This record gives sequence, C-alpha cells and structure tokens, in this order.
Amino acid sequence: MGMPGVGKGTQAARLRDRAGVVHLSTGDILREAVQRGTALGTRVQGFLDSGKLVPDELIGDLIADRLGQQDAAAGFILDGFPRTVEQVVILDEALRRLRVGLDGVYLLTAPKSEIVRRLSGRRVCADCGAVYHVDSRSPRVEGKCDACGHALMQRPDDTEEVIRERLEVYNRQTLPIAEKYRERGLLHEIDGTGSPVAVFERLIGEVNLS
Ligand code: AP5
Repeated sequence: MGMPGVGKGTQAARLRDRAGVVHLSTGDILREAVQRGTALGTRVQGFLDSGKLVPDELIGDLIADRLGQQDAAAGFILDGFPRTVEQVVILDEALRRLRVGLDGVYLLTAPKSEIVRRLSGRRVCADCGAVYHVDSRSPRVEGKCDACGHALMQRPDDTEEVIRERLEVYNRQTLPIAEKYRERGLLHEIDGTGSPVAVFERLIGEVNLS
C-alpha cells in the first residue's frame, strides 16, 4: 500500500525477485487491458485516465480469478489492491475460499513533495512496462528501455491534474483501509524515502520470508 508514486511497483518487483512469488499489480493488469484494447480495457480506460478508481466489482472478479491461478499457489504480492473498504471484503472472501491468509500489509510512506518528484520524473516502457526515473533510474540509452529497446513514455495519468486527483482519491478511499489492517495486527509502516535499495532493506526487515 501507499500513495501513488511512493514506490509500490518498484519494491514489489524487488520482493518478487527475492521471494520468488508472483507480483500482481492491478494497475499493470488494467493498463495492459487498455493497451490490448480488450473489452475490459475499453470499460476501464476513462477511470485510469482521470485518476478515479475502477468499480469494485470489476476489480474484484479480476483479482479473485487471478489468485486462483496456478502460479499464485506458492504465494503472491498484491500491489494496488485492495484500495477500498469494499475491496477488503472481496479479498477476505477470495482468501477464505482459497484457504490462505495474508502475511502482512506493508504501507510505504513519503512526503508529498517526494511523491510529486517521483511521478513527474517517471518514464515507462510503452511495450514491456518497465519503470524508470529521469534522475534515480535512468536507462542506459536515453529514451529507450534497457530490457526491450522500445521507446519510453510518460504514463497518461502522470499529469499534474490527474496526480492531484489520484492523491485525493488515495486519501479519501484507500488510506482508511490501513486502519483496518492495523486493527488486525497486519500493518507494517515502511519509510519510503531514500534510494530504492535503502527502502528495500527496510521492507525486507519486516517481511517474513520463511
Ligand atoms: P496504479 O498503477 O496502482 O497506480 P498508483 O497507485 O497511482 O501507483 P503508481 O503505479 O503510480 O506508483 P508506485 O507506488 O507503484 O510507484 P513506482 O514504483 O512506479 O493504478 C493506476 C490506476 O489504475 C488507478 O488510478 C485506478 O484508476 C486503477 N486501479 C488500480 N488498482 C485499482 C484498484 N484496486 N481498484 C480500482 N482501481 C484501480 O515509482 C514511481 C517513480 O518513482 C518511478 O519512476 C520510480 O523509478 C521512482 N522511484 C521509486 N522508488 C524510488 C526511490 N526510493 N527513490 C527515488 N525514486 C524512486
């Protein structure tokens, strides 16, 4: 969990590599659907472009189905889900059916000035979705993805106006669920400032990988 741009995707990818479990990002799944022009993509594009949340029932079915797939049987990292009180209920139900529990909920934090700096400097690969930053993670060749060589672009929702809306949506709809997980004794707050390596060291200190 954490504000838009705090580093959830960056840290989840590192944790995936360390823990050897799948990384399920609802943002990535939805963006891919938009890019491929699927029926889901057509339905959700307006929400993504405006910074609003996609309706709970759409996301709920998608995640419940994804968690039941074979590659998630050994464990999974959820990135960007749940994001509303209703999605917490949907996740509880999906986990109950699968007879698994959450090990922990990790809330990354950083000041708003750092969030704006990270989002405005973010560049993503238009093809494989790899994430870069103009200052802290620049590609070897400017404007080209290290992994696949395709062009880098700014995400359509990384404009000033949409960032403002995403932060507002986060504070209103998502932050309250941190309290729910705190009450359950699952919440770990992680200082998200400093380099990605420094943040990962803090994160890994809180995660039980046994
Ligand atoms: P989503 O893709 O989840 O966006 P988000 O929550 O706004 O988060 P971001 O992907 O913007 O940021 P991040 O925290 O992953 O940061 P990153 O690692 O990239 O969702 C997008 C949209 O999809 C939503 O608005 C909504 O419409 C929809 N959606 C998704 N899930 C949904 C759900 N459950 N329900 C309903 N709708 C849903 O890092 C950002 C930048 O900073 C990068 O450039 C990175 O290189 C850099 N960086 C990272 N860490 C550091 C560091 N430590 N130091 C310096 N730079 C750093």
